[in-house]
Amino acid sequence: MNNGLPRPVTAVVIVAAGSGERLGYGMPKARVPLGSDTILTHALRGVAAAGVARQICVALPPGDTALQELCGSFEAELRAGNPEAQIPLLTTVDGGATRAASVRSALGALLDGTEAVLVHDAARALAPEAVFHRVVDSLAAGAVAVIPAVPVVDTVKTVTRTSGDDTVIAPELVTGTAPREELRSVQTPQGFRLSTLLQAHQAAEGFGDKQAAAVTDDAMLVELLGVPVHAVHGSTQSLKITTPLDLIIAEGLLEGPLGIRWVEG
Ligand code: C5P
Repeated sequence: MNNGLPRPVTAVVIVAAGSGERLGYGMPKARVPLGSDTILTHALRGVAAAGVARQICVALPPGDTALQELCGSFEAELRAGNPEAQIPLLTTVDGGATRAASVRSALGALLDGTEAVLVHDAARALAPEAVFHRVVDSLAAGAVAVIPAVPVVDTVKTVTRTSGDDTVIAPELVTGTAPREELRSVQTPQGFRLSTLLQAHQAAEGFGDKQAAAVTDDAMLVELLGVPVHAVHGSTQSLKITTPLDLIIAEGLLEGPLGIRWVEG
């Protein structure tokens, strides 16, 4: 599990302030039931089980007292279950209007002395512990930025909207085919030296609306600084619960015949 190198003092930021509109539950995604718990509880459980964090900071929808209470009860449960063990400090902050703003809000609440930060989507509630360890091991080995990634199974093409008479034929026109062997689907937790991630997010604060809307992960902001971003193996179990179909798959992983057996590292 551990490559034996001294690990940086690490905080895990869980971004859980999204609306979850695409899931269609009429409530923030973090509160949506998954098995007998919520999506956020599963995410918290995964982070706590990995045991890599001194602090867990969760960005929640502003004013969501139900989720604040859920975090409080989770911390109490952890403490009750491990009275002797050092458990991570669990803090919450109000998230922002975009994912990046939610990350920035959490970065502002990290304990002094934090050296590295893992940013994790609550929506990837079933990310296996092994992935957290691969990311932290890579940081311990000297990476400044590291992301979990899996090969792409589909052929991926670029397209543009058709215009003029072509709109009758089809709404989009293919402009190219990306070389699949070079492509990766990128997941969370994404790990960074804290100073580098702070610098990347400071730069992003000046973005206009369009540029800000195009920021879909933290690594892309670090790439803009020209800092090398490394990739370790992710897991298909770290699926991002976004649509009703994803929720069915996640339920299946937890409860179905594959559930117990299929824990991909
Ligand atoms: O909506 P998206 O796919 O970008 O969401 C990824 C993660 O970012 C989710 O866990 C969601 O809760 C979080 N998020 C957030 N604040 C936002 C938007 C999304 O914390 N304003």
